[in-house]
Amino acid sequence: MTTEIRPHSLFARPQKHIRRLRIALAGFGVVGTGVWQVLTAKRQEFRRQFSTEIEIAGIAVRDLEKPRDAEAPATLFTDRPEQLLEDGSIDVVLELMGGRYEAASFIERALEGRKHVITANKLVLAHELPRLATVAERHGVELLYSASVCGSVPVLAALDELRERDNIRSIRGIVNGSTNFILTRMAEPGTSYESACAEARARGFLEADPTLDVSGADAAQKLSVLAYHAFREHIPPMDIITEGIERITAEDIALAREHGETIKLIAGASKHPETGAVEARVRPERIPVSHLFAHTRDEFNALEIAAVHAGPQVLYGKGAGSLPTASAVVSDLVSLIKADNDFNTSPSRNF
Ligand SMILES: NC(=O)c1ccc[n+]([C@@H]2O[C@H](COP(=O)([O-])OP(=O)(O)OC[C@H]3O[C@@H](n4cnc5c(N)ncnc54)[C@H](OP(=O)(O)O)[C@@H]3O)[C@@H](O)[C@H]2O)c1
Repeated sequence: MTTEIRPHSLFARPQKHIRRLRIALAGFGVVGTGVWQVLTAKRQEFRRQFSTEIEIAGIAVRDLEKPRDAEAPATLFTDRPEQLLEDGSIDVVLELMGGRYEAASFIERALEGRKHVITANKLVLAHELPRLATVAERHGVELLYSASVCGSVPVLAALDELRERDNIRSIRGIVNGSTNFILTRMAEPGTSYESACAEARARGFLEADPTLDVSGADAAQKLSVLAYHAFREHIPPMDIITEGIERITAEDIALAREHGETIKLIAGASKHPETGAVEARVRPERIPVSHLFAHTRDEFNALEIAAVHAGPQVLYGKGAGSLPTASAVVSDLVSLIKADNDFNTSPSRNF
């Protein structure tokens, strides 16, 4: 049975009290298979806690022949992502393909088709977040993207909450797990940049082409999304002064250690107290070994948020990887379900 997509009320109700939520996964790689695993594990709980039956209605991949880790029925797969958009019974699409233009167009068409979208795609968001948010608003649907920055750590929700009740002065932190893993290894005696990169690649923290991470570009994309939530200002990646870790040597780190410091790739943005101008940059910085950032090791992330009244606060946790990222995607799904529950129990619905 197909469900007409309504802007606010999400789900068909096949039986009393149990709602049906049909979702589609565009992408079944590192994050997509993690989402499959988390949803499979949480299905009963969703039913019990939110009276919601989750149905995965389709999965788009590039290569139908590729062997898959997760055991999803072959009938769910398509190599045509647009098939998911054409299916009027699908309420929510999860864009987990990556890339820029194709993914951006997919997200936009899904929103125009009045499907809610959850994405982990910081590249698209860094360039097009305000525009896509407007498209979502115009069509009465949600665009959610907790997984795009700092994996399972709920940094965007924290920024939204602090921005509403306080004034955020600055944000600053370690937002790229791959480079943090490399710098952590390089701080150990006898480990060069090259051997640290090789270990990061072997442990799955670094792509075959590591340029996006080591150049600081990935951190700059995340900073763009973070700054939008901290200051409601869109700073595209090209306006973020960006320096990566390619030129950092083990000798630089040893020298820093002699001065009681270590080196970390820091992404930061701050708002000028008088002009209100926001400046953002990504660069390697020397950090005192007593600072919490110096203790943020391997693939972990940490973000310090400084607010005028609340003072500094730090969020810390696993910034990437299949299950931590999937957990953030599922948290967006829970937000949608809760919003729908609120809508359907609000007094105005009784008319
Ligand atoms: N990995 C992480 O830890 C992490 C963390 C935060 C955010 N993210 C973001 O999450 C997104 C997905 O990352 P990932 O690591 O899961 O990538 P991935 O492992 O490369 O998976 C990408 C998936 O999308 C499919 N795909 C790609 N282009 C497609 C197309 N044109 N049509 C249909 N299917 C297509 C691929 O199909 P095949 O399987 O057939 O190749 C694959 O299943 C990216 O935006 C990434 O930046 C990732």
